Amino acid sequence: MKKILVTGAVGQIGSELTVALRKKYGDDKVIATDIRMPSDIELRNSGPFEILDCLDSHHITRVMQIHKVDRIYHMAAILSAVGESKPNQAWQLNVNGLYNILEAARQYQCSLFFPSSIGAFGPATPKVNTPQDTIQRPETMYGVTKVAGELLCDYYHKRFNLDSRGLRLPGLISYATEPGGGTTDYAVEIFYEAIKHKQYTCYLRDDCSLDMMYMPDAIRAMIELMEAESSKLIHRNAFNITAMNFTPSTLSESIKKVIPEFEISFNIDPARQKIADSWPDSIDDSSARNEWGWKPKYDLDAMTNDMIAKLKGKMSLPEQQKSR
Ligand code: SER
Repeated sequence: MKKILVTGAVGQIGSELTVALRKKYGDDKVIATDIRMPSDIELRNSGPFEILDCLDSHHITRVMQIHKVDRIYHMAAILSAVGESKPNQAWQLNVNGLYNILEAARQYQCSLFFPSSIGAFGPATPKVNTPQDTIQRPETMYGVTKVAGELLCDYYHKRFNLDSRGLRLPGLISYATEPGGGTTDYAVEIFYEAIKHKQYTCYLRDDCSLDMMYMPDAIRAMIELMEAESSKLIHRNAFNITAMNFTPSTLSESIKKVIPEFEISFNIDPARQKIADSWPDSIDDSSARNEWGWKPKYDLDAMTNDMIAKLKGKMSLPEQQKSR
């Protein structure tokens, strides 16, 4: 039976992934780790939790030994916008942290999931329907660390036969957890503001198209990829996946179908706009569909309806129950 270690388990993806993995494999089979304690009661009480810094390689191997881990979801990372203001920390955590995890995975013969991103592409990449195999010359530190991560994971697979697999995730939208420091965060903030104030001031241009995905689809993709038949995987690190692509303007039209009074205005943040402009408008995920059967469930309107219903429910709860 699998014992799974999740790093960055308190973060945007890690917190929902941990709960989903515990539901699928059993509470005691999933060891959540992070550099901070979770405030979310369900996450804290539903299974083992360890404080773990991915820059501490000895501690990683100790935790893996104690818990007899044989699969790792390595979610600890710094996102794109914060990565530009703290490039040194982004390199340390996103590359050196991954390296420590890869070494531990090699030593204990674990399979490994690594999240890459649409940020692994750059201005020289074909912008529309971006192919699986194409030019990757990102101009953000975040993108540089993601390309390095993809290459490192491929290297460990080819050199040491380590079962590493990864996804180039698009912007993720969730009602349960808020993002921190990404370029695509507007697509989450907009829902909170639409419900609270019927108004949102967006920091990206109205016509800025980016790939996006609702969190339940993303969690399912991460689990399905790790369960996929190994012999069918040609790409491994890392698969393009998407569920939808929209602009702030088309997202606001979708919200207006549910909240007709909603209005969007714009106050462009040049730093985040520059990052978004260097990423694809839309990506081609046919390799993921063909090699392991990827198929999203939520399109834009389905996500908008579910987000608004779930967020309204969450926002009407007493303060201490709001974290999930
Ligand atoms: N959502 C991420 C970001 O904006 C992209 O992977 O940084």
